[in-house]
Parts: sequence; structure tokens; C-alpha cells
Amino acid sequence: MIDFSICKEEYLNDIMELVRLFEGATAENLSLHVDYKLQGDAFKVSVSSEKFESFQKNFYFPYGEYDELMRKRVEKRYLKVAVYRTLCFLTGVTLPYGCLTGIRPTKLYVEIQNDKETYGKSAREVFMKDYGVSAEKVELIEKIVSVQTPLRNTSDKAYDVFVFIPFCPTKCAYCSFVSLPLTKQQKLVEPYVDCLIRELEQTKELIESKKLEIRAVYIGGGTPTSIGCEQLNRVLEHCHFGASEFTVEAGRPDTINKEMIDMLLKHGVTRISVNPQSFNAKTLELIGRKHRVGDIINAFALAKGKLDVNMDLIAMLPNETFEDFKYSVDTAVALSPENITVHTLYLKKGSALKLDGYDNTDCETASKMVDYAYKKLTASGYVPYYMYRQKYTSGNLENVGYSKVGKECLYNIDIMEEDTSIIANGANGISKKLDRKKQLITRCANYKEPLEYIKNIDLMLERQKEFWDNSCR
Ligand SMILES: C[S@@+](CC[C@H](N)C(=O)[O-])C[C@H]1O[C@@H](n2cnc3c(N)ncnc32)[C@H](O)[C@@H]1O
Ligand code: SF4
Repeated sequence: MIDFSICKEEYLNDIMELVRLFEGATAENLSLHVDYKLQGDAFKVSVSSEKFESFQKNFYFPYGEYDELMRKRVEKRYLKVAVYRTLCFLTGVTLPYGCLTGIRPTKLYVEIQNDKETYGKSAREVFMKDYGVSAEKVELIEKIVSVQTPLRNTSDKAYDVFVFIPFCPTKCAYCSFVSLPLTKQQKLVEPYVDCLIRELEQTKELIESKKLEIRAVYIGGGTPTSIGCEQLNRVLEHCHFGASEFTVEAGRPDTINKEMIDMLLKHGVTRISVNPQSFNAKTLELIGRKHRVGDIINAFALAKGKLDVNMDLIAMLPNETFEDFKYSVDTAVALSPENITVHTLYLKKGSALKLDGYDNTDCETASKMVDYAYKKLTASGYVPYYMYRQKYTSGNLENVGYSKVGKECLYNIDIMEEDTSIIANGANGISKKLDRKKQLITRCANYKEPLEYIKNIDLMLERQKEFWDNSCR
């Protein structure tokens, strides 16, 4: 238990995110208080603990002239460094990503690499010495950055299109994504697709009028293939934007059959997911996937050689031992899909496992699993090519996409590195316009819940139109 207080509210939530990662690290009841102020040309942070009489650590960081945005970023970062170092000292525990709590470590790494003037040292030094990131994670980040660099988008005219389909056959126990189980919400599919088509028609007009090039189209979910061939065919008819990469996430193997694969091929789809999550039958049962291991093998056989295939796996699924996870990684590698994405279980509000109080905090096993996946995959010809992190993840670890060389998914890189404008369609879609010169991203969000999306489609079409008219000239 750690009681935490800070002299001003401004950064409370950000710092709490870091403090929470130490919650399980100490049996004692620690009580931390943070004060910060400018002292001369230094930013002084004092961290004290009532638990230990007269315990106080003072940190002094260099401070310069910043605009408001930069001031906040710099101060937040310094506070995290100070709190992290104090907590390491008090608990004897270090974290693989040190004081970094954000979603995109690779993006930050490249920013520092490109701004030696501000940081005065290499990104590697900043990550290891200042932020406390472990040598193994820095190695992973550097590998990803080197794979991504030649694939990064440099053109202001090259955009991505994202299309969200919020339906799934059933809800998996670990999942907190926006997704409606078809067992209960089948009646929403047709009206949802009707609205989506209206939005896609508007997207087409935008692309043509602004002469945009589309780098990648990504139909995500949910489980896009769960709505069936007829409805998905209607959507895909409106997704012909000339992109060389065209992903339909699919996902659940029990939604993929020959008719579906043929329909995807007819529309020029290049990539799908056939997601095992685990190759252990008892685990699939436990997480409510409602499909069998055999379905994974069959769906993969249908797609192999015709489409590039990604397989998602999750480390730390309920009751899985290291050996269980190893078996899933080894089986996926033996099947040899173009991409394998290794997630680490995170439990957010809204997932059944979280509600059931499932404990995913065994850091040691989580690290062992993730390390094994890295070693096995890199030894088998896969390269790590994108990564992201989520809150409430076992061991505070990461999700990593691995690819055979030349088979990296551009959309995954673009979304994580935030260097491409994205036209998002559908519920929960967030369009993003990047101003490369100012390094600024503006956003326009659709309603998150599918029913709200359907009810408010006119408003959203108007809002999206205004957003792109103003931001894309
Ligand atoms: C947006 S989901 C869609 C995938 C598709 N519907 C399926 O289930 O096959 C993408 C991936 O995120 C991962 N994922 C979802 N919830 C997760 C969680 N709580 N912890 C770790 N990974 C998770 C799963 O591997 C999943 O395949
Ligand atoms: S993991 Fe996939 S299939 Fe399961 S509920 Fe989430 S989005 Fe749906």
C-alpha cells in the first residue's frame, strides 16, 4: 500500500500511474509526499516519506525556457524520474521500463535521438541512466527502431484509413475493447453497416478532392469477419482506396471459412489475423473464446499462401504456466505465419477477468514468458517491428509485433509512431491529422458506443467533414 500526495494536483494522475506499479512491491505501508518548485535555474523535487522519520530525497534538474506544452512535458518527466528513483530505493525493486509509463517507448526514443541539443546525450543514455530502462528493453526498442526507420512515412500526402467493426461472436474474458456480442446485438449489424457506408463514401470524397495517397487500409475490431460475408462485403465495396496494404483483422478463427477468404481476396485484401491467443484447449475454454484449437489450424490453412497472416498470442492467460505459453509460441512458430504478435495480459475495467478479481501480477513468470517469446521468435527469423504498452499489464511489460523480414504491417507502425494522418471510420474511430512541421496532432473522435454512433451519424459526418476541411488543405 502506498499513500501518495503531491503539492499541486497538476501531475497527480500521471505520477499515480507510476506509483501504482510499485503497489505489490512492498508489504509495508509507505507514505510518499512530493514537493516541487523552481530554485534558481533548477527544478527541485523533494520526495519525503512519513514512514521513515526525517526521510527526504532532493533532486535538482536543469531547467530552461519552455512553451506551455514543453514545460508540462519536462516537469512531468522530472517528477517521474525523482519518484521512480525514490521508490526503487525504498522498495529495492526496479522495473523493466523504469519510470516510463506511456504507451509508445519507441516514439519517445526516436524523439530523443533527433534532439541531441535538448538532451545533450544519446537516447540510449537517457533511457538507461535517466529513466532507468533495463538494458534488455533498450535493446528491444533499438531493434524495433532500426527495423521501422526505412518503413516510416515521410510524405504529407500519404494517409491511412481505419474502419472499425464493433461486433464479436462472444466476449472474451480478458477483453475490454468496444465490442458487442452478436449473440445479443445481431440486430444492430445492418444499421451499423449502413452508417459506416455513408461515412466511407465521405472518406472517398475527401481522398479524391485532396488528392491523398492511401498507404494502408485497416479494418479492425472487434471481429470484422463476425458480421458475415454479406455485410462485410458491403463494407469492403467501399474500401477500394488503392492502398498496397489492406488488412482485415478477422481474428476469431471460427469466423473464417472458404467463402470469407474468397470474398476478402476478391476485394484485394492482403493481410488478415488468425488469432489463437493460446494453443491450449483448456485455456480457450477458460477465456470464453468458444472455438477449438482445430479451428485455428483450419482457418490458417485456408489463408496460408493467399494472404499474409498475423497470429496474436497473450502471455499470462489464466492458469497458464510458462510451459503452456511456450507451447503456444512454439506452435505458432512451427505454423510460420508472416506475423506473430505477443501481448502481455492487461486487465482493465470492463473485462470479466478483472471483475472476477483475477491476479495477473506475477512479474517473474510474465518476464520469463515474454523473454522466451523474444528469443524463440528472433532465433526463428522474425524481427520485432512495433510495440506498445498498456496500463495494468502483468510485470508492466509490453506488446510486441514480430514479422518475417519484408512482411511488416505499415499501419501498425503508423499508428504507434503517430507519423501518419489517419481517417477513421466507425464507432470508436479517432481521426488524426498530423502537422509534421509543428509536430502537432489534432483529433476528431466519433461516438464510442455503436448505438450512439448509429443515432448520431449525421452529426458525426458533419463533424468529420469540418475537421478535415479545416485541417487538410
Ligand atoms: C482488438 S483485439 C481484436 C482481435 C480479434 N477480435 C480476436 O480476438 O481475435 C486485438 C488483440 O488484442 C489482444 N488483447 C485484447 N485484450 C487483451 C488483454 N486484456 N491483454 C492482452 N492482450 C489483449 C488480443 O491478442 C487480441 O487478439
Ligand atoms: S479479444 Fe477479440 S473476439 Fe474477444 S472480445 Fe475482444 S475483440 Fe472480441
